[in-house]
Amino acid sequence: MKFFIDTADFQEIREAHGLGLVDGVTTNPSLCAKVGIKTDQQFEDLIRQICELVQGPVSAEVTATDAAGMLAQGRHLAKIHEHVAVKIPMTPEGLKATRVLAEEGIKVNVTLIFQPVQAMLAAKAGAAFVSPFIGRLDDISQRGMEIVEQTLTIFENYGFDTEIIVASIRNPLHVLEAALAGADIATVPFGVIMQLMKHPLTDAGLKKFLEDWERVRG
Ligand code: G3P
Repeated sequence: MKFFIDTADFQEIREAHGLGLVDGVTTNPSLCAKVGIKTDQQFEDLIRQICELVQGPVSAEVTATDAAGMLAQGRHLAKIHEHVAVKIPMTPEGLKATRVLAEEGIKVNVTLIFQPVQAMLAAKAGAAFVSPFIGRLDDISQRGMEIVEQTLTIFENYGFDTEIIVASIRNPLHVLEAALAGADIATVPFGVIMQLMKHPLTDAGLKKFLEDWERVRG
């Protein structure tokens, strides 16, 4: 399973990259707002900087809601760097834009997917990636991973090569479930990446090893 990091915080990306855990990056307007991105220029500079570091797909989201606006923004974003994947919301206008961008050879990540048929429509439109949001479904008492499992089945049934990015991951269990289901990619917030490495028995075991080592050496 590929690991993407779900953040617009460059320090977090750099740290996770150092751990070898960044095959790609996903951003969205909320994540950009969180790190204080105020202008288009700042946004584009950040995306370029991330692409240079990561050398893998970096999702940059459009903010237009009509197909013509999404196309203009998407083409502009794709010119920033060869690793940009244009993130487009799952709407009828978004599907129109996805089809055209895909035909132009631009990678599209269709986002805000909450049911498997939406993912199938995005795949039919030529999306390179689909992003089901599992945490937000769990939040409303619907099992988010079911969407991922059903989407995997549909893509398998029809031979779609669209990759599934499990998104809106909130905890290590989500990462485990994504891996068990066979998802292509999990996009994981920095805090959850750090949690994945932790286990109290690892800490206790290391402490004991070092104490024993020191004891015989006086
Ligand atoms: O990748 C999508 C993600 O950023 C949404 O996460 O936690 O806002 O549902 P969340």
